[in-house]
Amino acid sequence: MLKIPLIISCFYVIASNAILYDSFTGKPVNKTLLKIYETRKNIEICTIEIKPCEPNQWRRVDGSCTNPKYPSRGTHRTPSHRVLAPVFSSDYEPRKAVNGGPLPLARKLRTELLSMGKASERSITQLASYYMIFMFTDLSAIHEVANYIINIETCCIPEGQYDNRCIPLKIPVDDPVHRYSGVRCMNLTRPLSYQTYGCLDNGTTFERMVIQTPLYDLSQTYNPTPGVIDHIRTYKNGLMIEEEEDGQLFPPTDPDSHMCLLNQPPRENRCFKYHINNVMSSNLMNILFYRQHNQIARELYRLNPSWDDERLFYTARDINMAISVQIFFYELLPIIMGKKNMIRDGIIGDGGFRDLYDESVEPRMSDEYVYGLRWFHLIQETDLKLHDKNGHYVRSFPLVNGTTRTGFLAIDNNMQHIIQGSFRQLGGKFDQTIDYDMADRILGGILHSSDVTASDIEKGRYYGLQPYVNYKEFCTKKKYRSFADLEDSFSFESLNRLMKVYKDPRDIDLIAGLWGEKYVKGGKIPETLYCLLVEQLKRTVQSDRHWYERHNRPRAFTEEQLKAIRQVTIAGTLCYIGDFVTEIQPRAFYAISNE
Ligand SMILES: *[C@@H]1O[C@H](CO)[C@@H](O)[C@H](O)[C@H]1NC(C)=O
Ligand SMILES: *[C@@H]1O[C@H](CO)[C@@H](O)[C@H](O)[C@H]1NC(C)=O
Ligand SMILES: *[C@@H]1O[C@H](CO)[C@@H](O)[C@H](O)[C@H]1NC(C)=O
Ligand SMILES: *[C@@H]1O[C@H](CO)[C@@H](O)[C@H](O)[C@H]1NC(C)=O
Repeated sequence: MLKIPLIISCFYVIASNAILYDSFTGKPVNKTLLKIYETRKNIEICTIEIKPCEPNQWRRVDGSCTNPKYPSRGTHRTPSHRVLAPVFSSDYEPRKAVNGGPLPLARKLRTELLSMGKASERSITQLASYYMIFMFTDLSAIHEVANYIINIETCCIPEGQYDNRCIPLKIPVDDPVHRYSGVRCMNLTRPLSYQTYGCLDNGTTFERMVIQTPLYDLSQTYNPTPGVIDHIRTYKNGLMIEEEEDGQLFPPTDPDSHMCLLNQPPRENRCFKYHINNVMSSNLMNILFYRQHNQIARELYRLNPSWDDERLFYTARDINMAISVQIFFYELLPIIMGKKNMIRDGIIGDGGFRDLYDESVEPRMSDEYVYGLRWFHLIQETDLKLHDKNGHYVRSFPLVNGTTRTGFLAIDNNMQHIIQGSFRQLGGKFDQTIDYDMADRILGGILHSSDVTASDIEKGRYYGLQPYVNYKEFCTKKKYRSFADLEDSFSFESLNRLMKVYKDPRDIDLIAGLWGEKYVKGGKIPETLYCLLVEQLKRTVQSDRHWYERHNRPRAFTEEQLKAIRQVTIAGTLCYIGDFVTEIQPRAFYAISNE
């Protein structure tokens, strides 16, 4: 009881003129509010302590001072931006259908709107989906999933029936898969909000609480939670702590952690201590970017033996972040969004410096952007083809069996074999088909059955996302009142499927609309998804004073240095840090071909 007030007086008095900001409002906390948080014992969650911004400082690990006008925006627990205001029925329950009844069951929509099966994309590798997920985990943690696999296990049994935190998915009796299995319910919990933690009063508008920073700053690698970076840094020569196992280097482990649910002891013990133990592809890329930091720091030290630890650390981090974003914006997204489209819409430039910084734009991520990325669940191929370093096929492995199984990567050359497979194997097709494991056992052996795309629908409703046609209207400025109005954007077959399950076009859930929508010209994603990505990516570049392409950001790259960053590719990165990658096609998100 005494401890929290003591810490707070430290914040106010001792910690060198730091200020305590309210996470939600972004304003300094006054005494009245502090008292309230004190009573609720949630000061640490609802507030963030920030030292005054300095004009020439490096990008802080906690994300503060990304825009000095709004010092706390950019830290973890920055509220989301909303493209369209949230809509709910009473008590922040999902909106109703136009006719006043409930919306169709999420699982029903999934089985009616998506086909199950396997198909490969002819020209794109599995690596593209890994990188997509890796960049997703820069913005979003899996704390909501952890909630229903670890914290609340009662959502599908009578005990959980009246638990407000539970929002389980009902399975129709005629479900094509589960009419045979007897499974009638899938576990799911309500999204976590400022209300969940008592930072906003109950009854106020639902506001999601997001754990990562709303910036592309490798949150997954450097961990923005205040103080954690001190446990990861060696404070010597800019390096981060590495542990060696079997000749390979890993971030620090916590063998007693309970977060690696699928580790198979006694051989698989490794479990991240300061990083999120996540899906396999993201864990794998995260290990590589962690190692890459140290590679860069060592090289910098070799070139600049007089630099101190601070300068080496922040320079290495700056380069590491720039590489991650360069690959994303200039190598991966153009394949998906269309390069010409991105140039036209100002998301990427033509080579030199770019400065779009606008201090009136707060660093925030839109809920619609992060949610829209769930569309990429459709392209995930889950049957991994492991290869050895000479490019020979070793065996296959179900991707979903690797979730929260960090220890798997440290044994039997698994990590090496997965990387080798990632740029040799074709990825899942960009189509309206969902892979079997994604559809029914996304969490591998953690839960008996779980359907990621049905959860996507349900989550969208609890986030209060508006109907699909409203987003389409936002993007095209046209009205969509009847199914016929949608004819230009859907194939006959896709529109037919929608008409079978929804009574009114204004009922269509955002993601359900995206599943069937025609692709943007020159790209491989639905038109409206393209529009929502553009809406956010602009804000990303505009709101970030540390954006790597700016010539006048604090400690900016020189022209020569930026040029070097621009030459980095995912192939080069894997050569540099991947285990035993000695041969790789130059554009590794594209499949190996005769050319
Ligand atoms: C303290 O802050 C709260 C929330 O920002 C605000 O509603 C309230 O008016 C403030 N009280 C005083 C005394 O300034
Ligand atoms: C909001 O409601 C939840 C669940 O009913 C409760 O646990 C919590 O204490 C309430 N928060 C406040 C600030 O009253
Ligand atoms: C994957 O997990 C499932 C469910 O736990 C298990 O039955 C299966 O044997 C596992 N497959 C492999 C190759 O590990
Ligand atoms: C839901 O969670 C419970 C507790 O973890 C588990 O026993 C049950 O099998 C889960 N249901 C499904 C369909 O996976």
